[in-house]
Amino acid sequence: MATMRLLLFLALCSTGIHVILSDDAAALQSLKVAWKNYPPSWDRSSDYCGWKGVTCKDSSVTELRLSAVGLIGDLSGDIGALTELTSLDLSFNPGLTGSLSPGLGNLKKLNILILAGCRFTGNIPDELGNLGELTFLALNTNNLTGGIPASLGKLSKLYWLDLAENQLSGSLPVSSVTSPAGLDQLLNAKHFHFYKNQLSGQIPANLFSVEMVLIHVLFDGNKFSGPIPSTIGLVQTLEVLRLDRNALTGTVPSSISNLTNLNELNLANNKLTGPLPDLTEMNSLEYIDLSNNSFDPSEAPLWFSTLPTLTTLVMEFGSLQGTVPEKLFSLPDIQQVKLKNNAFNGTLNLGDSISAQLVLVDLQNNQISQITIGYEYNNSLLLEGNPVCNGTSGLSYCQIPQTTPYSTNVSCGNARCPQDQKLSPQSCQCAYPFEGTLYFRAPAFRDLSDANTFHSLENSLWSELGLNPGSVHLEKPFFNTDHYLQIQLALFPSTGTYFNSSEIHRIGFALSNQTYKPPQKFGPYYFTPHTFRVM
Ligand SMILES: *[C@@H]1O[C@H](CO)[C@@H](O)[C@H](O)[C@H]1NC(C)=O
Ligand SMILES: *[C@@H]1O[C@H](CO)[C@@H](O)[C@H](O)[C@H]1NC(C)=O
Ligand SMILES: *[C@@H]1O[C@H](CO)[C@@H](O)[C@H](O)[C@H]1NC(C)=O
Ligand SMILES: *[C@@H]1O[C@H](CO)[C@@H](O)[C@H](O)[C@H]1NC(C)=O
Ligand SMILES: *[C@@H]1O[C@H](CO)[C@@H](O)[C@H](O)[C@H]1NC(C)=O
Ligand SMILES: *[C@@H]1O[C@H](CO)[C@@H](O)[C@H](O)[C@H]1NC(C)=O
Ligand SMILES: *[C@@H]1O[C@H](CO)[C@@H](O)[C@H](O)[C@H]1NC(C)=O
Ligand SMILES: *[C@@H]1O[C@H](CO)[C@@H](O)[C@H](O)[C@H]1NC(C)=O
Ligand SMILES: *[C@@H]1O[C@H](CO)[C@@H](O)[C@H](O)[C@H]1NC(C)=O
Repeated sequence: MATMRLLLFLALCSTGIHVILSDDAAALQSLKVAWKNYPPSWDRSSDYCGWKGVTCKDSSVTELRLSAVGLIGDLSGDIGALTELTSLDLSFNPGLTGSLSPGLGNLKKLNILILAGCRFTGNIPDELGNLGELTFLALNTNNLTGGIPASLGKLSKLYWLDLAENQLSGSLPVSSVTSPAGLDQLLNAKHFHFYKNQLSGQIPANLFSVEMVLIHVLFDGNKFSGPIPSTIGLVQTLEVLRLDRNALTGTVPSSISNLTNLNELNLANNKLTGPLPDLTEMNSLEYIDLSNNSFDPSEAPLWFSTLPTLTTLVMEFGSLQGTVPEKLFSLPDIQQVKLKNNAFNGTLNLGDSISAQLVLVDLQNNQISQITIGYEYNNSLLLEGNPVCNGTSGLSYCQIPQTTPYSTNVSCGNARCPQDQKLSPQSCQCAYPFEGTLYFRAPAFRDLSDANTFHSLENSLWSELGLNPGSVHLEKPFFNTDHYLQIQLALFPSTGTYFNSSEIHRIGFALSNQTYKPPQKFGPYYFTPHTFRVM
């Protein structure tokens, strides 16, 4: 009897499973038709729950994770039928094109949606606003156009919203009498990453409120105009505020001094006017860039010498005058002082308690007529274009270093490789490297020719990523228009000519999820892989 009941139970279960199975199986089948280059395991077995990148619960697909596997195709498959999905990650497959399927809006259980680093085009579907469980939405680094849908304001659980590096336009949607949804309602959001789009109009004052918990507001590289809303001062959780490279006008609101948790403030390359903001109370600031605005001419403000954790001060193309305050150079954490193209004059004195961290002082094109030597400072000091350098161009600080950027030395004689392969600097064998671009947001050095600096990066890469010594190739370091140091990276397999897919996932994850830590002077980074081949 018990056996009978068990058998009946199993039969019922398997019918149930069978129904779910055919739905998800059909949906995955349609994706296979729409995609090329899916992992080989997708052809080896009909048990899709064992396929690479697929996770199931009771035969329903709950996770589809195919980041950076070289997928080619679009989202025309019936992805909206995978209704049990909680996590969908197709990021860094530049072969994925076409528009975002409105069917994504059916995936009501979706918690994580990552479609970053592909080549999707067209609008962000309004239907994404139906994904009420979503906490993580990353559509950055695609070719999306049109506006930000107001419906995204309905994603009340969202903590990460990344729409950066697309061609999105229009203004930021906020709620109003006529439009009930807007970004101002995202009261759990910690990240608004909207940089490098074509967003325009004023930054709405009611976008920000005291209920918000934002830590990163990254609006840089858009076309925002008008004033910085004083409501920004209400979001006291803010740690990074980037409004640089827009067309903002007016004075910086005094409420900004309420942001006492702010580490990074970047207002550079706008058309801000009036007095320099008073940052005296902002005791967490580490990185400040106020370059290239139209502030009133003034002497260096007091906070230049008092901010306790300041590492980087940038105010280039400004109207600072008078003498450079000596105390600035003895702030305990100060690393970089970049004040070129101002009107500082008189005598430069770095003082006699220069911070041990200080590596760069750039005061080119000021009116400094004298320099007091007497301190010990062996790092970069750039004074070209000051009267003190007039006629004395032999002095080291008066010459702009002319150097060839570093590149890993590959000495393999005349060896040549087939197309797509490269010589491993370590073994001189041809191999398919894992390639990508490293972006360092605030490196503590300027000299791109110093082999020791780059050797330290090579060594940390191969040792932390568990590769053979010397199997790292770096080339073409340069400072891009964001002032980020950009370096081309190629990693070579320890054995054979290619990395297997588990190695690629391991390495890609270590780099994209910041598990890998570069030497300290390189500072924070991010990594974008190029497509790679999995054999
Ligand atoms: C995507 O945008 C980039 C940068 O603007 C552009 O170079 C590229 O041609 C665009 N690709 C497509 C498929 O539209
Ligand atoms: C500064 O923060 C306080 C709360 O700590 C708030 O009452 C005040 O309105 C804020 N000031 C401005 C100008 O935003
Ligand atoms: C200063 O900012 C303007 C835009 O406001 C930009 O066009 C110009 O290139 C910037 N100048 C420098 C030296 O960065
Ligand atoms: C420096 O500039 C200020 C303001 O432009 C001026 O008053 C002062 O005399 C100058 N000092 C020197 C030493 O040239
Ligand atoms: C600066 O260089 C001199 C001579 O090379 C050296 O003796 C001194 O220790 C260096 N000082 C620092 C702070 O590195
Ligand atoms: C350098 O000296 C020349 C002649 O004395 C003068 O014309 C020029 O303006 C000076 N340059 C600077 C940067 O002071
Ligand atoms: C590159 O390595 C070869 C052999 O180890 C060496 O002879 C050469 O000097 C190196 N070149 C540079 C620029 O370091
Ligand atoms: C992938 O390569 C690594 C290192 O060569 C090796 O340890 C691992 O067993 C390989 N995995 C598979 C699935 O082939
Ligand atoms: C990155 O790694 C941390 C643990 O180190 C983990 O909590 C987090 O979920 C990972 N992020 C992603 C996007 O996988």
